[in-house]
Amino acid sequence: MSDNLKESINLDRLPEHIAVIMDGNGRWAKKKGMPRVFGHRSGVKAVREITEAAAEIGVKYLTLYAFSTENWNRPALEVDALMTLLVKTIKEEVKTLNKNNIRLEAIGDLSRLPEKSHMALKEAIKDTSSNTRMTLILALNYSSRWEIVNSTKQIAEAVKSGKMEIEDINAETFSAHLATAKIPDPELLIRTSGEKRISNYLLWQLAYTELHFLDLFWPDFRKQHLYESILDFQNRERRFGKTSEQLT
Ligand code: IPE
Ligand code: IPE
Ligand code: MG
Repeated sequence: MSDNLKESINLDRLPEHIAVIMDGNGRWAKKKGMPRVFGHRSGVKAVREITEAAAEIGVKYLTLYAFSTENWNRPALEVDALMTLLVKTIKEEVKTLNKNNIRLEAIGDLSRLPEKSHMALKEAIKDTSSNTRMTLILALNYSSRWEIVNSTKQIAEAVKSGKMEIEDINAETFSAHLATAKIPDPELLIRTSGEKRISNYLLWQLAYTELHFLDLFWPDFRKQHLYESILDFQNRERRFGKTSEQLT
């Protein structure tokens, strides 16, 4: 079943960058009568599945929303558990990332992560930095409004110190100041859990992204769901403001 789906994908029209909102861990656990943290732990398997499937098929960038700046407002026990899980998972996965030639990157206000998490992350980024098949980007302590405000400050600073002219501020130079400066905009966004919102994720970068919402909780996400999402993407007509007739 999943092999059939995979073979139906047109490899010449793959999204180069897929962004994902991994949502529904808590509800998945609750449905099973388990604590929310159990859902987060179970979500790691889905992270492995999507990373492996995306790399295998030839996707170049995969960005996963792992922790938003708003997620600090959750109960302290859950936040602690998420940070512990992060360190543990990153340390365990470096070997597999290297084996699969996958480079790890991160976007977000990383300096505000607990020291242990920040160190583990920095080390994994360094240890995988020469890998070339795919870049896996973790959005950690990330929010789009934080990112946009941060870029605006940098640009204002550059103008103030005379390194940049106001006339030089345009969509291109603005993009170059975002955390995703060296990464192309995502062509496809996938969100699980049935929720249909963006939750402060890549607001600038998603301007023309195709959105795909899935009615399943993140821990149930498997390779076939990635294939389904890509096939749906390939059936969309991306017009970028033009008319349908202009595209042919
Ligand atoms: C996504 O699942 C993981 C994080 C936000 C860290 P949730 O924890 O949001 O699970 P739900 O949406 O409450 O079910
Ligand atoms: C978005 O999920 C953030 C992550 C997946 C890390 P949330 O569960 O925090 O989003 P809302 O609260 O439902 O919008
Ligand atoms: Mg959620």
